Amino acid sequence: MAERAAFREMKQGTAEDWAVIGRDYREFARGLPDRVLTHLKLLDGDFGGFPVCRLEHSLQTATRAHRDGRAEDYVVMALLHDMGDTLGSYNHPEVAAAILKPFVSEELHWICQNHGAFQGYYYFHFLGMDQNAREQFRDHPHFEACREFCEKYDQAAFDPDYASEPLEFFEPMVRRVMAKPITSAYAKAIAEE
Ligand SMILES: [Fe+2]
Ligand SMILES: [Fe+2]
Repeated sequence: MAERAAFREMKQGTAEDWAVIGRDYREFARGLPDRVLTHLKLLDGDFGGFPVCRLEHSLQTATRAHRDGRAEDYVVMALLHDMGDTLGSYNHPEVAAAILKPFVSEELHWICQNHGAFQGYYYFHFLGMDQNAREQFRDHPHFEACREFCEKYDQAAFDPDYASEPLEFFEPMVRRVMAKPITSAYAKAIAEE
């Protein structure tokens, strides 16, 4: 049987307990890219009335960013920006942003977290909402970067005839970007394996 910590309440924990948990955690953390890719596949075949399914939209957003010469971390953000659709039905950008946060720059995190309001420029007015919701961020340093992400890649990625790269094409990128956290309270522990 796998080694387990002995405590019944955390306040009884010992250094030995935490050595056991620490070893398991490092192994578990290494599996994150696989879990992310597995979760992304849940979007396959989920059209929600759109011309392409949510997985194809994700692949197309990432493919367009890649073919436009974007860096690998940007492409991975583009690939994952809607992965929260399954569990964050009312706040999907925040789900993907939280998962990406340890691995990307503050700017890429911001783009992901706020793309919903910027994407709304293309459809909120059809739903009785404020098309200019993004204006609340007008003076933010990342306004233009987020506007550009939505204009060039996100809102443009609903073409059923576009030849997107398959998920396998992006898998190595996801693994590289998620190999090591750059901002996380646990980053130091991971680095010391
Ligand atoms: Fe989105
Ligand atoms: Fe999207």
